[in-house]
Amino acid sequence: TTNSSHPHDLTREILSLLDTRPQLQTADDLPDASQAEVKAALDRLASRQMIQYNTRDSENIVLTEEGQTICDEGSHEYKVWEAVKRKGRIGLKELPVGAESAKIGQGNAFKLKWIKKDGDTLVPVANEVEDKTRQSLLEINEKRSLENTITLKEFIKRKLAKTNKVITYDVQKGSRYAKEIPVEVTDLTADMLASGEWKTANFKPYNFEALGAPQNSGALHPLNKVRSELRQIFFNLGFVEMPTSRYVESGFWNFDALFVPQQHPARDTQDTFFISDPPSADPPRPDPPAEAAMDIMEAPSKRLYASASSTSTPSAPSKSEDTRDYEQYLSSIRAVHESGAFGSIGYRYPWSRSECLRLVLRTHTTAVSTWALHRLASQPRPARYFSIDRVFRNETVDATHLAEFHQVEGVIADFGLTLGGLMRFLEDFFANLGITGLRFKPAYNPYTEPSMEVFGYHAGLGKWVEIGNSGMFRPEMLEPMGLPPDLRVYGFGLSLERPTMIKYKVSNIRDLLGHKVDLGFIETNAAVRLEKN
Ligand code: PHE
Repeated sequence: TTNSSHPHDLTREILSLLDTRPQLQTADDLPDASQAEVKAALDRLASRQMIQYNTRDSENIVLTEEGQTICDEGSHEYKVWEAVKRKGRIGLKELPVGAESAKIGQGNAFKLKWIKKDGDTLVPVANEVEDKTRQSLLEINEKRSLENTITLKEFIKRKLAKTNKVITYDVQKGSRYAKEIPVEVTDLTADMLASGEWKTANFKPYNFEALGAPQNSGALHPLNKVRSELRQIFFNLGFVEMPTSRYVESGFWNFDALFVPQQHPARDTQDTFFISDPPSADPPRPDPPAEAAMDIMEAPSKRLYASASSTSTPSAPSKSEDTRDYEQYLSSIRAVHESGAFGSIGYRYPWSRSECLRLVLRTHTTAVSTWALHRLASQPRPARYFSIDRVFRNETVDATHLAEFHQVEGVIADFGLTLGGLMRFLEDFFANLGITGLRFKPAYNPYTEPSMEVFGYHAGLGKWVEIGNSGMFRPEMLEPMGLPPDLRVYGFGLSLERPTMIKYKVSNIRDLLGHKVDLGFIETNAAVRLEKN
């Protein structure tokens, strides 16, 4: 329908039609208005008792596109006959009508004895013909039905016509009929109460069917939702959250303290964003007392000590000032890189102090884990730490990579830890996310040995996908901190984006993070249930 009449005009039209007669019938009287417009206008009037109506479902017959074409141009057989007659004689393959049309048309024209074959040519038989197919289709167009039910069945089978459901409303005047909707009062005011006007005022009826207007409110980003689920899992497993507010770190905490050599490709400007201003970091030093006092890792939670393999659970050591010699720590790191120490032969290259003080946007949250483990070394004991926060890598941006993403990281320190324990832990951890039956693949990190990539089977994608990286931290990293050699530490990391994209069926990371994100998606996405993957 092309009628663009506003529902308001439609109510007027209905009221004025009823002014001159007792009844109307929408299919006939308002043929151009859409079903939705008609219904809205009727309900508006009916709620004011200005009209009443009954609904009637019925069916009629309408032409398909093909049926309409035949209606306009004639049937296939007519077109064939017409062409043959015009030329007097026509080659079998030379019919000027479309291939399909020619095939059906020829067959029918033979049957009707309108044309016949003469060798390789067609010649006309009838002089005048009556195109009954077209006539019947015209009848349908006009009456929306066809008297000859056999022909109708055939047309429906040939997909020239089809049945069509119509809702018709029979409309009559209601008890409060008027030619126009009277002015309606929408609010009851103090003045109306005082004057008594409320007694006679014509109040607009409430529409209890109306949907509320959408509310503009804040919404949690999917990454935030998955993050809070993961935090809960970590807390349930006895982990303490590490402070991750420093996006800018020194190369020292990001690389050197992790036994990453200074000429390692990951330090290369290809992967790491270096900060030029300020030109370098202060040398690592104890936290200033004010900052230490606010240390969230000293929160009252005693879960820190709930480690599976430790028999005793020592009480939290009281926070004392960090009086350790950081220069000593730096020279141990120099030694382990340059010439080897703690049983390691080292990398044997000249280690540069200024290189370790270059500032970088942290490339992994393992920088924070390293800081936390060094802190733990002041009072070595079993511990479980985790963090979930942003890291930065200078990568080419594509559907699955951004220059920044979020890392989920956990480290566990305890006596007598083994690689088997790490695998078991990862299986338990990922089971919480609905991922079971992990596979492990040997990998390489400068700071862990052995290192393992973790794979999980993604039922939706039907393949194994890498879901994390893990390993046992090297003595070259832990012993310079002052951790005792029998206190072992393992850790793992994964991106927060990967499970979030799987969960929310996002295939392009730019739909999840960054300036192209559709706010509607953020506002309407569902809560996350990780175990229901
Ligand atoms: N830092 C590693 C990464 O960025 C993750 C990791 C953390 C690996 C802890 C081993 C131990 O992928």
